[in-house]
Amino acid sequence: MAESTRVSSLPWRTLLPPIIAFLLFLPIVSGSYFKPFNVSYDHRALIVAGKRRMLVSAGIHYPRATPEMWPDLITKSKEGGADVIQTYVFWSGHEPVKGQYNFEGRYDLVKFVKLVGSSRLYLHLRIGPYVCAEWNFGGFPLWLRDVHGIQFRTDNEPFKKEMQKFVTKIVDLMREAKLFCWQGGPIIMLQIENEYGDVEKSYGQKGKDYVKWAASMALGLGAGVPWVMCKQTDAPENILDACNGYYCDGFKPNSKTKPVLWTENWDGWYTRWGGSLPHRPAEDLAFAVARFYQRGGSFQNYYMYFGGTNFGRTSGGPFYITSYDYDAPLDEYGLKSEPKWGHLKDLHAAIKLCEPALVTADAPQYRKLGSNQEAHIYHGDGEAGGKVCAAFLANIDEHKSAYVKFNGQSYTLPPWSVSILPDCRHVAFNTAKVGAQTSVKTVESARSPLGSMSILQKSVRQDNVSYISKSWMALQEPIGIWGENNFTSQGLLEHLNVTKDRSDYLWHRTRINVSEDDITFFKKNGANPTVSIDSMRDLLRVFVNKQLSGSVVGHWVKAVQPVRFVQGNNDLLLLTQTVGLQNYGAFLEKDGAGFRGKARLTGFKNGDIDLSKLSWTYQVGLKGEAEKIYTVEHNEKAAWSALEPNVSTSIFTWYKTYFDSPEGTDPVVLDLESMGKGQAWVNGHHIGRYWSIISQKDGCEKPCDYRGAYNSDKCTTNCGKPTQTRYHVPRSWLKPSSNLLVLFEETRGNPFKISAKTVTAGILCGQVSESHYPPLRKWSKQEFINGTMSINSVAPELHLHCEDGHVISSIEFASYGTPRGSCERYSTGKCHASKSLSIVSEACQARNNCFIEVSNTAFHSDPCRGTSKTLAVMARCSPSQDRSYLGF
Ligand SMILES: *[C@@H]1O[C@H](CO)[C@@H](O)[C@H](O)[C@H]1NC(C)=O
Ligand SMILES: *[C@@H]1O[C@H](CO)[C@@H](O)[C@H](O)[C@H]1NC(C)=O
Ligand SMILES: *[C@@H]1O[C@H](CO)[C@@H](O)[C@H](O)[C@H]1NC(C)=O
Ligand SMILES: *[C@@H]1O[C@H](CO)[C@@H](O)[C@H](O)[C@H]1NC(C)=O
Ligand SMILES: *[C@@H]1O[C@H](CO)[C@@H](O)[C@H](O)[C@H]1NC(C)=O
Ligand SMILES: *[C@@H]1O[C@H](CO)[C@@H](O)[C@H](O)[C@H]1NC(C)=O
Repeated sequence: MAESTRVSSLPWRTLLPPIIAFLLFLPIVSGSYFKPFNVSYDHRALIVAGKRRMLVSAGIHYPRATPEMWPDLITKSKEGGADVIQTYVFWSGHEPVKGQYNFEGRYDLVKFVKLVGSSRLYLHLRIGPYVCAEWNFGGFPLWLRDVHGIQFRTDNEPFKKEMQKFVTKIVDLMREAKLFCWQGGPIIMLQIENEYGDVEKSYGQKGKDYVKWAASMALGLGAGVPWVMCKQTDAPENILDACNGYYCDGFKPNSKTKPVLWTENWDGWYTRWGGSLPHRPAEDLAFAVARFYQRGGSFQNYYMYFGGTNFGRTSGGPFYITSYDYDAPLDEYGLKSEPKWGHLKDLHAAIKLCEPALVTADAPQYRKLGSNQEAHIYHGDGEAGGKVCAAFLANIDEHKSAYVKFNGQSYTLPPWSVSILPDCRHVAFNTAKVGAQTSVKTVESARSPLGSMSILQKSVRQDNVSYISKSWMALQEPIGIWGENNFTSQGLLEHLNVTKDRSDYLWHRTRINVSEDDITFFKKNGANPTVSIDSMRDLLRVFVNKQLSGSVVGHWVKAVQPVRFVQGNNDLLLLTQTVGLQNYGAFLEKDGAGFRGKARLTGFKNGDIDLSKLSWTYQVGLKGEAEKIYTVEHNEKAAWSALEPNVSTSIFTWYKTYFDSPEGTDPVVLDLESMGKGQAWVNGHHIGRYWSIISQKDGCEKPCDYRGAYNSDKCTTNCGKPTQTRYHVPRSWLKPSSNLLVLFEETRGNPFKISAKTVTAGILCGQVSESHYPPLRKWSKQEFINGTMSINSVAPELHLHCEDGHVISSIEFASYGTPRGSCERYSTGKCHASKSLSIVSEACQARNNCFIEVSNTAFHSDPCRGTSKTLAVMARCSPSQDRSYLGF
């Protein structure tokens, strides 16, 4: 809505992508996306419309983006080579109150599935309804804990009743919207339960019975497509079992009648507050995928292809951050994360070239090529009658390259790599040779209140960031009990039993009468009394007479907090907070929050005071939350007062301001590094929890080596810096000006230093050697099938592409020869074609993307005979409209 007024002033080039996207998704109104088809399977693969298929799937969770982002995410998945989109279904979002359903906005599941169909992609719908997903409470709605006699995920009638009701609801919804493949829709596969094998033992025989019940309940719904149970070695015969993990080659389903499926290929990892950021190298990820198809796999899903954002209080935990970037091929904002996205695109193209051979052979032929080298060969009769053959050559040595002979030819295999030969002769792809561009995201600070622009680049330090506002209002949140809806009860209640997770916060207040003798006793001992709690989560703040004594953070940790009392009556306030509910493990319904075990006040003359024996007054949540002062509708009703820039701020304060949306269409983030911990809303949309907690100091020192088995501690970054400082504000939540920003700050922060920024792939680098494989787009599947393939004359090429709506504004470096260094640090080597820069500039300047052949021909001469040459380029992308009038 906001954009429409702006778009009119943009030239056609920036308009084109939205128009194409719009045209692409027009069929959404019609309803049928495919000629109706059936899906079944045999031991080799899913059989889609009568044909075995090798499928690549992209995990996207619809509520972790906005409906306005969905079309672009789905388009980029398809462009990246995905055949399938995979998502969980989020029960807590769809049935927040028992019996009251929500399928609107980010929870408009039908719309999401229709968009997938209109892109002519398939869908794997994982209903669960337990989903884990690093989602609050694993996707269970909180009311489920309160169902009488309930025990989750076991042979328990109340649970089974609710689960069946919800799963039926979703299957019926999909059927009514005609979204199953046999109705012409995109859904080819479903999932019931999720990684139950991990916890099944905890439930004994009842767990085994539950698996059988869940399977037959699901099948009984007559959805007409296969159901999966992932990580379920005892999945019944008519349910597929599937692998989840970093590697799934060698996975064997529990029956010879089932194909090898990989429902979650963890291409990155999630992050905790205080943790460093994990990265999985593109080379290792491609290796894992190639090994999977090499050893008989047929369906592989990236978990996640797009991770997105845990908006509101949806992040699980405890302590999962608001970003769910996951180091996925599409980043948190939906921008391509390079070289991961491009390298996987090349991989998928290579696998697709092998598909005719892969589906023909019932099993690969195995050939050992060396101590750590092996080949798997798929051959048989092609559809057209000719012979088809595809081979995968793997070197699983973590250190050394290998030289192998295969079918009379020699091949060099880099360490920890797979070469893919779609015709059993020519290498179309090697997992360790990245030909895709690298992109460096640049963050541009938004238009300042003065209307000037400045660019913040990684390599250029500029201190004149423009902050979003010079004018802030503040409002003090009461410390302690604030409203009529407080209540008093004997003893300490369980946190979630009281809050029902309507808020992160629960106030507990009691009165402690301290005698003169006690005060004398404290002085004599030289020690203050302490609040001592055996076990607590996630955050406890202790106040005495409204003054903060201290805070404790942890997941079921002991809390020992010294407190200072005055003689006579003292108000003791305990504030328990959650930072994302548990989403994993057995007995989730019992996990709870707040306190466990004994809670005492120690250090008194007459012995400890048992806090659980006292009378406590409770209040759920904050006054500002209850009054919804973060909404456009209600914020004016609160008694805000202007905030002076140099006044030191107090804890538990609400802040608000209005700000203008940054120019353009690039994704917008708020930089909240100057703040402490709290939550933020833009125009009433909850953008998530924020916390400037610093990541662990150690663990990022080792250089990232793609070789060898990946784990989430390998290749981490951001040690010693705040875990998350940028918070995504989807464009569709913004209007051009006067956007309401409200923050609730628990500690201290400086709102005057909050800035809005835009993120874009501002710098591109590419490096391709003349011995690289030829461009996959020039390989013809049909020529393979016909056996007429001839690719020897095709030179490799370097491809640079800016995001939609951006063009290459300058070539900062180009050298065909022996360039040195890496992205942003290239220099020319001994050998350098003197026309490199002008040739690349001419091919790329002012274009959204360009291809440059890596050959002597393209560079008009051989700059050094007999030496292997490489082309390295660094380019800059800018919005394609002419923005020079804006002053930079
Ligand atoms: C930012 O600082 C640079 C260098 O000091 C200056 O040239 C530029 O005008 C400043 N920009 C703004 C927006 O203040
Ligand atoms: C707490 O609740 C009681 C009973 O409803 C009420 O009288 C009292 O005013 C409330 N406290 C506050 C601070 O609103
Ligand atoms: C929570 O409340 C339920 C009753 O609603 C009770 O059975 C349960 O014991 C309570 N849990 C705790 C930990 O107090
Ligand atoms: C504190 O307790 C003492 C002894 O039980 C009592 O005399 C005194 O009045 C109490 N003080 C207050 C402020 O309630
Ligand atoms: C605020 O502080 C800065 C430096 O700390 C000072 O230059 C400025 O004059 C102060 N402004 C006011 C209004 O006190
Ligand atoms: C492959 O063979 C078929 C049938 O022989 C022929 O029609 C087709 O043109 C060939 N395609 C290519 C790309 O060689």
